[in-house]
Amino acid sequence: MRLKLIVQISLITGIVLSFTSALFGYFNISSLKQAFLQSAVSDLDHLGETIFRSVFHQMLENDRNAIQVTIVEVGQGKGIERIRILNRDGMVAFSTRKGEICTTVVKQQAPACMVCHNEEMSSEDSCASLPRSRMLVNSDGKKVLGMIRPIYNEPTCWTGACHAHSKDTKLLGLLEITISADPMLSMIRNYRNNAVIQIFFLILSISLCLTLLTKRLIIQPVHTLLEHTRAVGKGNWRLIKSVPGDELGELSEAFNDMTGKLKKNQDEMDEWAATLETRVEERTREIKEMQAVLVRSEKLASLGELVAGIAHELNNPLTGVMIHASLLARDPRLDDGLVEDCQTVIDETTRCSKIVKELLDFARVSDPQKVMQPVSKVIDKTIALIEHHSDFKDTELIKEYDPDLPETLMDASQIEQVLINIMINASQAMPEGGELFIKTGVSESGNHIYVRIEDTGCGIPKENIEKLFDPFFSTKGHKGTGLGLSVSYGIIQSHGGDIEVESTPGTGTAFTIILPI
Ligand SMILES: Nc1ncnc2c1ncn2[C@@H]1O[C@H](COP(=O)(O)OP(=O)(O)O)[C@@H](O)[C@H]1O
Ligand SMILES: [Mg+2]
Repeated sequence: MRLKLIVQISLITGIVLSFTSALFGYFNISSLKQAFLQSAVSDLDHLGETIFRSVFHQMLENDRNAIQVTIVEVGQGKGIERIRILNRDGMVAFSTRKGEICTTVVKQQAPACMVCHNEEMSSEDSCASLPRSRMLVNSDGKKVLGMIRPIYNEPTCWTGACHAHSKDTKLLGLLEITISADPMLSMIRNYRNNAVIQIFFLILSISLCLTLLTKRLIIQPVHTLLEHTRAVGKGNWRLIKSVPGDELGELSEAFNDMTGKLKKNQDEMDEWAATLETRVEERTREIKEMQAVLVRSEKLASLGELVAGIAHELNNPLTGVMIHASLLARDPRLDDGLVEDCQTVIDETTRCSKIVKELLDFARVSDPQKVMQPVSKVIDKTIALIEHHSDFKDTELIKEYDPDLPETLMDASQIEQVLINIMINASQAMPEGGELFIKTGVSESGNHIYVRIEDTGCGIPKENIEKLFDPFFSTKGHKGTGLGLSVSYGIIQSHGGDIEVESTPGTGTAFTIILPI
C-alpha cells in the first residue's frame, strides 16, 4: 500500500513527539514528586524536633499532664493525623487520641513501627541507622507520612531529680508523628494533570504546524511538479509558473529547462517529419548534381589524355598543309580560279590549328602555378587584352569591384583564360551589342570570393544548361569549338572553386566564378 507523504510525515512526527513528551513528562513528574516528598519529610523532621524540644523539660520534670496538653495542642495543627509518645515497651504514654493511651502497640499491626522494625532488625540501634520518615498506609487505607523520633537516655535523664531511668538504658521511648499525605498527593495530581494537558496541546500544535508547513512547502510543489510531469508526458508542454527559492524551486527550474529542451527536440522532430520529403528531394537533386559533376570530371580527364595525343600528332601535318597551301596560293603558275579554293584550304587549316591549340590547352589544365594576388588585377588585364576584339565593338563594360576583396591564391594566366572564354561567349551572345556587368565580392559565408559576369544577350535555353560544360558542346556551328567552357571548368576546379550559371532566354546570362579565399 502506498501511504501519502503527508500521512507518513504526520505519523512519524506524531509518534516521535508523543514518545519524547511522555518521557519528558514522566521524568519531570517523578522528580517533582521526589522534591515534594523531601520537602514534606524535612517539614516533618522540624515538627518532630520542635515537639521534642517542647516536651523535653516537661519530661525531665515528669509533668505528664503538661506533656499530654502540649501534644494535643500541637496535634490540632493542619494535616496532623496523630502524635504519640511510646515508652520503650511499646505502650502508648501520650497521644492525640486519648483512647489509645496505656495500650500496647503490636509492632506488626502498626505500620509506623515497621519503619525501623522488620524481621531482621529488632535491636534498639536500628532506629538510628535508618531514615526516620516514610510514606505509609494507615488503618483507613489512606496514604500518610509517618515519622519516628527515638528518645535516647541522656545524662540529664539519669542525673535528674526524679531518677526515673537507670544510666544503662539507651532508648527511653519514641515520638511518633503521622501527617496526612493528601495535600501533597493532590498537588502532584494537579501538576500531573496540567502537564498532560499542556503536553497534549503542545503535540497538537506542533503536529498541526508541521502538517501545514509540509503541505505548503513540500506537498503542494510536489503535486504541481507531478501534474506538470504527467502533462508533459502527454505532450502538453506546460511550464511551472511560481517557483519558490529552495531546493524544490531549483527542481522546478530544472524541470522547466528539461521541458524546454524536450519541446525543442519534439519541434525539431516534427519539423523534420514535415520537411522530410522536401529534404529528400533536395538531397536527391544535390546527389544528381554531384554525380553530373563527377561524370563531367571523368569525361574531361579521359578526354584530356586522348586529346593531348591526337592534338600533338595533328600539329605537325597541319603546319605542313598550312605552309604548302600558303606557298601554293602565292604561286603565279596557279590558275586564278584555283586561288580561292587554295584560300579555303588555308582558312580551314587555320581553324584546325585553332582547335588543336584549344585542345592542347584543355589537356594541359592540371597543374596551375598559384600565387596570392587580387582578382581585380587579373580581370583588368583580361579586359585590356580583349577590348579590341571585333566581337567587343558594341559591348559596354560596367565594372563593380569590391574594394575590400582579399587576395586569392590563383594562376593568373589560367584565370585569364577562363575570363576570356566567358567574356567572349557573352559578347558573342550580344551580336547587336549590349551591356556586360563585371562584379566582384565575398560570399555570404566569407570563405569565397566571386566574379560575376552578366550579359544582356540571348540567354541559354533550359535544356542546354546541363550540357554547357561538356566538351565540344557548341551552338555556334563551325564558328565554335565547344571547348571554351569545359576548359574553363577544368581550370576553376583545379583551383578548388566552381562555376555557376543563371540564364533567362531572351534576357541574358550570368556566369559566376567562385574561388576559395
Ligand atoms: N553568355 C552566353 N550566352 C548564351 N549562350 C552561351 C553563353 N556562353 C556560352 N553559351 C553557350 O555555350 C556554348 C558552349 O560555349 P563554349 O564552351 O565556350 O564553346 P563555343 O563558344 O566554342 O561554342 C556556346 O556554344 C553557347 O551556346
Ligand atoms: Mg566559347
